[in-house]
Amino acid sequence: AGKRTFSMIKPDAVAAGNSGAILKMIEEAGFRIVAMKMTRLTLAQAGAFYAVHKERPFYQDLCNYMSSGPIIALVLEKENAVEDFRKLIGATDPAKAEEGTIRKLFAKSIEANAIHGSDSDENATIESAFFFSKLEEVNA
Ligand code: CMP
Repeated sequence: AGKRTFSMIKPDAVAAGNSGAILKMIEEAGFRIVAMKMTRLTLAQAGAFYAVHKERPFYQDLCNYMSSGPIIALVLEKENAVEDFRKLIGATDPAKAEEGTIRKLFAKSIEANAIHGSDSDENATIESAFFFSKLEEVNA
């Protein structure tokens, strides 16, 4: 089994009907989906998920946006998962994202940027545990 990362398809991409296209890109890039659920975060849950950004000027807006509609939470498995997934999604700001990346194709703005990917193995574990129990992560 490879390493794991955590991802979320964000409200803008779900609302735009891009979930299927994004999941297809993720699978075609060699990631295996080991857990997946669609849910809508409350404002408080979005605040807790993004607590590391609490002091940032964009925090309140980010929490409002992340609780504005359903998201799809994912645990993904692949060798070198965290780094390879960040390459697949591209830069936070879609204006700076490389051609062919998920954010270049689907993000609307630096905030409504279509998808999240963990920035470290440690955060992948923390973020996966926020959404999924051990029982919900497939072992194969
Ligand atoms: P994500 O990778 O999920 O991590 C933090 C999120 O905050 C980021 O994607 C964006 O959705 C948002 N974000 C980061 N920087 C900014 C910014 N400068 N202005 C607004 N939102 C931002």
